[in-house]
Amino acid sequence: MKSYRIAVIPGDGVGKEVTDEAMKILNAVSQKYGFNVETETFDWGCDYYLSHGVMMPDDALDTLKVFDSIFLGCIGDINKVPDHVSLTLLLRIRKGFDQYVNLRPIKLYPGVRSPVETATSGNVDMVVIRENTEGEYAGVGGFFKQGTPDAFAIQTAVFTQKGCERVIRYAFELARRRKKFGGRAPVGMVTSCTKSNALNYSMVFWDSVYQKVAEAYPDIKRDIAFVDAITMWFIKNPEYFDVIVASNLFGDIITDLGAMLQGGMGFAAGGNINPERTYPSMFEPIHGSAPKYTNKGLVNPIASIESVRMMLEHLGEEQAAKDIEKAIIEVLRSEKIKTSDMGGTHKTCEMGDAIKEALQ
Ligand code: IPM
Ligand code: MN
Repeated sequence: MKSYRIAVIPGDGVGKEVTDEAMKILNAVSQKYGFNVETETFDWGCDYYLSHGVMMPDDALDTLKVFDSIFLGCIGDINKVPDHVSLTLLLRIRKGFDQYVNLRPIKLYPGVRSPVETATSGNVDMVVIRENTEGEYAGVGGFFKQGTPDAFAIQTAVFTQKGCERVIRYAFELARRRKKFGGRAPVGMVTSCTKSNALNYSMVFWDSVYQKVAEAYPDIKRDIAFVDAITMWFIKNPEYFDVIVASNLFGDIITDLGAMLQGGMGFAAGGNINPERTYPSMFEPIHGSAPKYTNKGLVNPIASIESVRMMLEHLGEEQAAKDIEKAIIEVLRSEKIKTSDMGGTHKTCEMGDAIKEALQ
């Protein structure tokens, strides 16, 4: 029997509640498809920080390294730890495990209303590939002349040949796979999200790498768009997009907008992928920890369940992954179960239960 070891970090705020539902679904499909899942839960996060002075132990990556995948709930609670400190947990794993692809599918399921008027289940089906280890998140810089009237801060973005090339190549490979499996876009297209009209070094460099990589994919349409224009086109013509490849910060920003296209933060999932599989990949809902909703059972667990679906796809349990998607669609289409973000009154666990039932 196949067996997977999954590290589970529920994290802060609503993290525990959504993780419970995600694990409910993971266990249900493992029984149905006859594979074994062994989970180990780590209590890292802001409470851990309050008692240990760090978000996770120094040797956390050594501990996590032996797992097949990591599931992360959500991290951060501004009342306990400043955000720029709590985010170190996430960034240390993304960078330390060279999870250079942040895979963020944006699909609006039938039965879900997007706050964006133009978005329908027929026209929102795209994937953002966000670079996840360098760029604007490189953490290079410093504070200078602090406490004087001449104080200043420098934050330098780092774009390496290797870093740009591998993530752009991943985007083209994905566009090819989507085309082959009947993706919505008829031709297959990779939009490069850039800003080379203003960022005359980093983004000019990014553009040149994009053009070079694209040469190897004559079957996939090239497309270049400035990040500001992308935010406009996401709203105006969501059907235009297939795969979008973006730097770390641009990808961060446009995927929150993407989450709105797909019905809200409650639906948006992400995978932090190390494609070479040298290290485990990590899957997480991209919504925050929403501390004020903690233990109220109000949040939508679909983003977390979608993260489990992506994890299974990555592990090669494709049938189980497809089944989860089918179950989610069935529940949403029936419009019988709605959490508060969807204008309903059902609890987090009721949404999880309904999806579990649809699986069986
Ligand atoms: C995300 C989040 C993180 C990011 C924060 C919590 C550091 O916004 O995963 O999109 O900026 O990457
Ligand atoms: Mn974000």
